[in-house]
Amino acid sequence: MDWFEEYESEIRAYSRVYPVVFETAENAKQTDENGKTYLDFYAGAGVLNLGHNPPSMKAAMIAYLEKNGVLHSLDMMTVAKRDFIQAFVETILRPRNMDYKLQFMGPTGTNAVEASLKLARLVTGRSHIIAFSQGFHGMTLGSLACTANEVFRNAAGVTLDDVSHWPFDNHTGGGLESLDTLRALLENTSGGLEKPAAFLVEAIQAEGGVNVASQEWLLALQKLAHDVGALLIVDDIQAGCGRTGRYFSFEGMGLEPDIITLAKGIGGAGTPMAMNLVKPEHDRHWKPGQHTGTFRGQNLSFVAGREALRFFEDDKLLSETRAKGEIMREHLQKLAEAHADKGYAVRGKGMMQALDVKDGALAKAIAHDCFEHGLLFGPCGVGGQVLKLIPPLTIPEDELLAGLEIFSDAVHRQTEAN
Ligand SMILES: Cc1ncc(COP(=O)(O)O)c(C=O)c1O
Repeated sequence: MDWFEEYESEIRAYSRVYPVVFETAENAKQTDENGKTYLDFYAGAGVLNLGHNPPSMKAAMIAYLEKNGVLHSLDMMTVAKRDFIQAFVETILRPRNMDYKLQFMGPTGTNAVEASLKLARLVTGRSHIIAFSQGFHGMTLGSLACTANEVFRNAAGVTLDDVSHWPFDNHTGGGLESLDTLRALLENTSGGLEKPAAFLVEAIQAEGGVNVASQEWLLALQKLAHDVGALLIVDDIQAGCGRTGRYFSFEGMGLEPDIITLAKGIGGAGTPMAMNLVKPEHDRHWKPGQHTGTFRGQNLSFVAGREALRFFEDDKLLSETRAKGEIMREHLQKLAEAHADKGYAVRGKGMMQALDVKDGALAKAIAHDCFEHGLLFGPCGVGGQVLKLIPPLTIPEDELLAGLEIFSDAVHRQTEAN
């Protein structure tokens, strides 16, 4: 432990909340170097939708390494990349009648968001972006300008320009009427609000506190974007790749985003990858090499990511996700009812479910209690008051129930102690 405290930067965050050294992991379990096993209801903040070390991906990566498959290739063509592209088109895009180009960039979510903003600005010749309250889009300056949380924004050290934040659907001041107000401002030549290059939105705000936008609101936002000549960018970096019980978090809502940002789960096994889905009419605005990145397209991620796509060849995993999501929701609902006087709220979709305990200090105490009893998860939302549970979609039902039990006990204990 001393090595971390003495030599690793003060920037450490999760390692302070979970002060053990992890050594091995399998599906929904993570074991520390002293042999204590934890149930993982955090899943790498949405990276490990298919669990830790999924056997099929592990085997494919080992085989790839053994045959000296090319590991690094900048954005050159490789067999691994072709296999991934083909599988993504055949498994995800074609069955959904979706016509998009696949753009790879540096392998983290913020890279995907940066590329989407840059393209929207190129396409429209405008600079202004409209993002939403409590949105989270990453830490590099362009994405950070769209991220709402002031703790992160204050670390920028420069002004974060060219972005306005409007209230998200179900936040104070939000909803359909508020989009009407926004429209009135944008359509009034003396409204004072610059027409945007894009609206950047999460259909379900994950870090922002598990806020689920309604279909109506998202469709109204899409219409507004079209009417004012702006692009609609949906950031599906955390809520996508199956998390909600559909491949995309907004699926089935009649939405056709101009750009969809993906990262986290797309690499399959925790192997980093980011990828934007871009409507071809916008993609043609890129000049070759205009947005580069040394690690755009890691072959091990393509190999693991290709295996991950096999989980979506039929509806088995997704229907299990919806069923397990129901179990989670019922469990949280009972907890909220048991403490009805506290006004706890349950929110979520599929296997992203959360209990809002309306108190950051209490949320912290619950997370610590869970950790002591062998369950990992991460609070989110304003002041960290929302307990977000995102176990791997592949978690066996008995482990899901065991984790929920630990969670309930901790909520009861800490609520009573509070
Ligand atoms: C919705 C969303 N967008 C973007 C990001 C940034 O991704 P990364 O941390 O990989 O840069 C995150 C990370 O949590 C996210 O949840």
